[in-house]
Amino acid sequence: PRPAIIPRSAHWWWQDRERLLALATESGPAFVYHLPSVQLAIDELAGLKAVDRVLYAVKANPHPRILEQVDAAGFGFECVSPGEVRQVLEHRPGIDPERILFTPNFAPREEYVFGLEAGVRVTLDNLHPLKHWPELFRGRDIFLRLDPGQGRGHHKHVRTAGSQSKFGIPLFELEEAAERVAAAGARVVGLHAHSGSGIRTAENWREVARVLGEAAEHFPEVEILDLGGGLGVVEKTGDDPLDTAAMDASLADVARAFPGKRLWLEPGRYLVARAGVLIARVTQTKGKGEARYVGIETGMNSLIRPALYGAWHDIANLSRPDEPAGTPATVVGPICETGDVLGNDRLLPECHEGDVIAIANAGAYGRVMSSQYNLRDPAAEIVIE
Ligand code: LLP
Repeated sequence: PRPAIIPRSAHWWWQDRERLLALATESGPAFVYHLPSVQLAIDELAGLKAVDRVLYAVKANPHPRILEQVDAAGFGFECVSPGEVRQVLEHRPGIDPERILFTPNFAPREEYVFGLEAGVRVTLDNLHPLKHWPELFRGRDIFLRLDPGQGRGHHKHVRTAGSQSKFGIPLFELEEAAERVAAAGARVVGLHAHSGSGIRTAENWREVARVLGEAAEHFPEVEILDLGGGLGVVEKTGDDPLDTAAMDASLADVARAFPGKRLWLEPGRYLVARAGVLIARVTQTKGKGEARYVGIETGMNSLIRPALYGAWHDIANLSRPDEPAGTPATVVGPICETGDVLGNDRLLPECHEGDVIAIANAGAYGRVMSSQYNLRDPAAEIVIE
């Protein structure tokens, strides 16, 4: 049993703050990735007994050292664009392309040609490719992405199932899908679904497995049920962590109902979020009426999650570990938008120019979603071995 409340002192970035203070001074704003923490998450998921294969969702963080570490664990890779497939092939030369699952959506015909020629496994997320380009799939083994009907996740932008989402083949199209697959001369060997991102309800994946297992009756050659990713991590103190042991037990349960099917998972965030922290120095502070602002060197151009999803990332002043919190302050970057906020009303010790601020859980969907907005370079990337 893991504690529901994880004290800050348990995090690698708090324990290792002296090193982060030095890095912030040498390198300026940076995403720092702590590989031992990636390994902890890898080991945890590798230990799930009901799961036959874990594929890392490259979109969360395509840094070559992270790809290397995931590869060393024998995990596969889930890619959503030719760019992600190329990133894996370039940095893991010689990898068996069968370990890569390519799951594009609303992609042009050429991208399916690219995937098939590269020899990676290809997922269709819509009937359009089978209707309009059936010749591509003749004699091929393919995956179909289904919409399991129920979307979940930390924000509506990241719920990827249900009638409000653009993803997946709806269950009412299964019969037509089977006919079109047969007409194209393809074989469906895997069914796939992904409900959303940032889910800490252990039951989610069992429900997805049940939907896919039942849908597999339309496709006699299905061997694999890919239950997607979406495994959430604790953000705020007091959040319940995802109970991976309960998840494993519930998957073992559902697997018995569908003998002969192998279960896959494709987490991104769970493997890398906690291993990354964004560090930056305080530039200026301001009091404006009641409001207090702490400005730091980088903002939404590096980490857009708070602005885009209202995401909550723990923020700490690494330079003053022992000082008590002062008045709540809003932590902002230097970007010319009112939305350039990293955290609202945070209880930080009194911050001074040059103090080093750490923003936690920044290893997933951080640098990869950054931009050059305002022509300010986003934070660099540093790896701690
Ligand atoms: N598989 C598929 C098909 C996906 O679409 C995704 C994420 C994943 C796996 C991995 O999901 P994860 O385990 O990382 O939750 N930018 C958002 C998250 C978007 C996720 C999109 N799809 C965020 O920062 O919260």
